[in-house]
Amino acid sequence: LRFYADSANVEEISALLADGLVHGVTTNPTILERGRRSVRDIPELYARWEAEGAREIFFQAWGDSAKTMIGNAERLAALGSRVVVKVPATRDGFTTAAALVSAGATVLVTAVYAQAQALAAATVGVRYIAPYLGRLNDAGREGVAEISAMQSLVQGSGTDVLAASLRTPDDIVSLAEVGVPFFTAAPAVILAALYSEVSDRSAEDFEAAVARGLQD
Ligand code: E4P
Repeated sequence: LRFYADSANVEEISALLADGLVHGVTTNPTILERGRRSVRDIPELYARWEAEGAREIFFQAWGDSAKTMIGNAERLAALGSRVVVKVPATRDGFTTAAALVSAGATVLVTAVYAQAQALAAATVGVRYIAPYLGRLNDAGREGVAEISAMQSLVQGSGTDVLAASLRTPDDIVSLAEVGVPFFTAAPAVILAALYSEVSDRSAEDFEAAVARGLQD
């Protein structure tokens, strides 16, 4: 089981990496934009997160044709051994995924919304698929049930589900309960998964007992 930070907020990511709470960092062009970054910043971000100990760093290939996307994807893969190249689950994205897998790159197919796309990604041999729980639910679909079915489809194929669009700790738990192993979420969601008011009260009681003991 692993958590990843789905963000380009370098301060928040630095803290999560330093504290050993996430395995790596996932981005896409909209996440970069939200962090006031662009694809031009990718080499700098890769170097920073590699130095900070991220074990996998995900950047998304872009382009309005398979040729352009493959060229961008190859440049991303060449950044270093910790790169995972994301490609969208589109016609061009699947072509890019197949080319990258053949070249030995580690690949994630993202924005997976259909069982057949999950299956197709596994046939191409990608390492991960990223279905979007929140957005499936937003579209009125049964997100957990659909991702559970994807999990069953790819089980044992060498392709794993790395779930995205997770907005609450309960989203993560619901997917873990059906066997999903990997989760990417905004730093605030990851921090929320660590928190219970009752745990904090218990910790305060422990500290108070220590303090009383030291007064004797
Ligand atoms: C990841 O690649 C997605 O951009 C992200 O998880 C989407 O989350 P949202 O649906 O909450 O915006």
